[in-house]
Amino acid sequence: MDKPTVLVTGGAGYIGSHTVLALKEAGYRVVVLDNLVYGHRDVVDEVLQVEFISGDISDRALLDEVFRTYPIQAVLHFAAYAYVGESVTEPAKYYRNNVVGTLTLLEAMVQAEIFTFVFSSTCATYGNPHQIPIPEDHPQSPINPYGMTKLMVEHILEDFDRAYGLRSVRFRYFNAAGADPQGRLGEDHNPETHLIPLVLLTALGKRDRITVFGTDYKTPDGTCIRDYIHVTDLAQAHVQGLEYLLSDGETSVFNLGNGDGFSVKEVITAATEVTGLPIAIEEGLRRAGDPAILIGSATKARKILGWDPQYKDIGIILEHAWAWHQKRHGD
Ligand SMILES: NC(=O)c1ccc[n+]([C@@H]2O[C@H](COP(=O)([O-])OP(=O)(O)OC[C@H]3O[C@@H](n4cnc5c(N)ncnc54)[C@H](O)[C@@H]3O)[C@@H](O)[C@H]2O)c1
Repeated sequence: MDKPTVLVTGGAGYIGSHTVLALKEAGYRVVVLDNLVYGHRDVVDEVLQVEFISGDISDRALLDEVFRTYPIQAVLHFAAYAYVGESVTEPAKYYRNNVVGTLTLLEAMVQAEIFTFVFSSTCATYGNPHQIPIPEDHPQSPINPYGMTKLMVEHILEDFDRAYGLRSVRFRYFNAAGADPQGRLGEDHNPETHLIPLVLLTALGKRDRITVFGTDYKTPDGTCIRDYIHVTDLAQAHVQGLEYLLSDGETSVFNLGNGDGFSVKEVITAATEVTGLPIAIEEGLRRAGDPAILIGSATKARKILGWDPQYKDIGIILEHAWAWHQKRHGD
């Protein structure tokens, strides 16, 4: 039997595009909706080769038309703004896009009788953790508007299940990293704020140096520790989360992380080994709102979804990211 048609919002972005490939490879027909504020049209046309709608999740008339035109049975929702610092200085922009936009999408889905939803949430909903590794039932207390927008949508989704029977999987990602192992896709944010691409752009000579924000944390080398999860493993989790819902799984939330942490300095050292190039660093002050350690427990995703991340090694994550960066940004 043919697999269903699914809509992927934000499918021209980093995690969305890797997930579109995984969905296609699993046999799904995929329609991408992206306003291209941050997404890449060339990636959709040349690599993903799926039906593409250039538009905004807050355009209700467009959504109604999309749901009338295509036999969509589920929505995977990646579209959002995700710059923590900007969310502090421009909160209205974040609440409008991430919360109001998502609400518009959910209302259109209910009207079109589409009741299956996979949502990109984040470990930023936990705030400063009291427990490491962080389990899903850890209290959620975001320390910036970005994390708050994602937590608000998590609550909206619980209410939409109770009221309308819209079942969802909320994935709380830790730090997405790496690139498609076959080199077809990778991370290309502009502006870029994530550590691994910044380090690799420095190795490529596209940036002068990498700033390490805070060297006096209570960690073995004084720098922040994060849980890096390969984007292809994230993509695979989405296919499994979708299949869980399509086989009548109930609304649920899953952390997606490796359960291992690497400090900023460890990542830079590993990148020096992978690239064979010097990477200049400068030590800077702590950034407000950066917890010392964020590591997630993904035991639940492994147990219930059967998720089995393949690329846990930070060296492999860096190798895949490096291959992509050389192809995309090398001279
Ligand atoms: N990258 C990470 O480490 C990480 C961690 C936790 C959660 N997330 C979440 O995962 C999702 C994807 O993140 P990413 O790193 O791939 O980001 P990204 O910016 O590469 O992708 C987001 C895509 O959504 C599109 N978009 C934004 N607003 C839109 C709108 N109103 N209508 C239509 N399209 C819109 C952008 O053009 C972009 O292509 C986001 O929801 C983000 O909050 C990411």
